[in-house]
Amino acid sequence: MRSPSRESPPPPALINVPHHRGRYPVVFAPLDRLPAEMSDAGLKSGKCIVVTDENVAPVYLKSLTEPLEAAGWTTMPIVLPAGEETKSLSHLGTLYDHILPLEIDRRTPVIALGGGVTGDLAGFAAATLLRGLPLVQVPTTLIAQVDSAVGGKTGINHPAGKNLIGAFHPPHLVLTDAGTLATLPEREWVSGLAEVVKHALISEGELAGLLLDHWEAIMSREQATLARILPPAVQVKVDVVVEDEHETGRRAILNFGHTFGHAIERLSGYGTYTHGEAVAVGMRCALDLSKRVNPGADLAVATDLLQRLPIPPRRNTITAEALVAAMGVDKKRDAAGPRFVLLKRTGVAHLASADESLIRESWNTIQSEWM
Ligand SMILES: NC(=O)c1ccc[n+]([C@@H]2O[C@H](COP(=O)([O-])OP(=O)(O)OC[C@H]3O[C@@H](n4cnc5c(N)ncnc54)[C@H](O)[C@@H]3O)[C@@H](O)[C@H]2O)c1
Ligand SMILES: [Zn+2]
Repeated sequence: MRSPSRESPPPPALINVPHHRGRYPVVFAPLDRLPAEMSDAGLKSGKCIVVTDENVAPVYLKSLTEPLEAAGWTTMPIVLPAGEETKSLSHLGTLYDHILPLEIDRRTPVIALGGGVTGDLAGFAAATLLRGLPLVQVPTTLIAQVDSAVGGKTGINHPAGKNLIGAFHPPHLVLTDAGTLATLPEREWVSGLAEVVKHALISEGELAGLLLDHWEAIMSREQATLARILPPAVQVKVDVVVEDEHETGRRAILNFGHTFGHAIERLSGYGTYTHGEAVAVGMRCALDLSKRVNPGADLAVATDLLQRLPIPPRRNTITAEALVAAMGVDKKRDAAGPRFVLLKRTGVAHLASADESLIRESWNTIQSEWM
């Protein structure tokens, strides 16, 4: 294994994300840097709300609040149950009930310490309390670090569907500490890695090469290597959302593997696979379909990466017919049938419809290989 520091320049310690009302930094640093970074981001010490969940609190809450208190902040922690069910109206209400009596004002920051559930829920509370409180994202899952904490989307679920209630509320600051990934349960880790691999497959930068060169070190969560791959993985999302501010529709390429993935999640029953697991299988299907739609395309690197990404044990008997029917009602469909993000070559994605017969063939191929 080559040392990451010898073969390429050090990763940036900061990525600036422009948006229509300003910009915010994504800082790659340990949790105890938070007070200094908040001060640099223009947040003046006083009260701050820290929202986290019951899994994250015992491991990281003190590491966050102690340096803040030492820097003159009064921290008000709120610990919620862990899990997707917490992204609900009732837990949003709980947050309002806890926060409003604290005599906050419009400068009181809300710090979201946790995964995408905490970030989306606390972010939506910040977006709506007093018509908008400053939000600081401190993502502690790989999905949150490379995806949900960046881009400004916040929200909650409704029985009618996921993420149906929400707001665009860009953070003031994102602080990403690769060290927090050490304690992620294995399934959460691999689920996040699926989104990192997705970023590598839809972008032409250095990420795919970095992942291939350092795969073993990544899988063993070696800190220096994680610190090396996180900035380029975040940069892919940043580039896509920044471009999409101009309404190019480019954000859709982030859905690579997701048309199949959403159908697999739904047909197997939500909770059978994590979102990332379903996307890992969905990307294999989308790559197979890419080869059928774009014969002769050079997809060797994409194929290599996807074969390395572990997929979960098969726990379903989804037929091609059921899958095609489920994708027909996918929210990303157009008049010509379901739309897929396909690859012209590794790093170059495009949106296309595909013949039903090809979709069936791809599913049957991947299912027969899926042990
Ligand atoms: N806003 C967006 O743009 C966007 C993008 C992608 C996903 N999302 C949302 O993100 C959510 C999924 O995010 P997630 O996978 O982070 O879910 P999550 O917040 O439920 O975290 C997964 C699990 O890991 C635990 N955990 C978090 N950090 C940990 C750590 N460092 N060590 C040990 N355990 C830890 C959590 O308690 C939880 O049990 C979904 O609700 C999805 O809709 C939002
Ligand atoms: Zn996803």
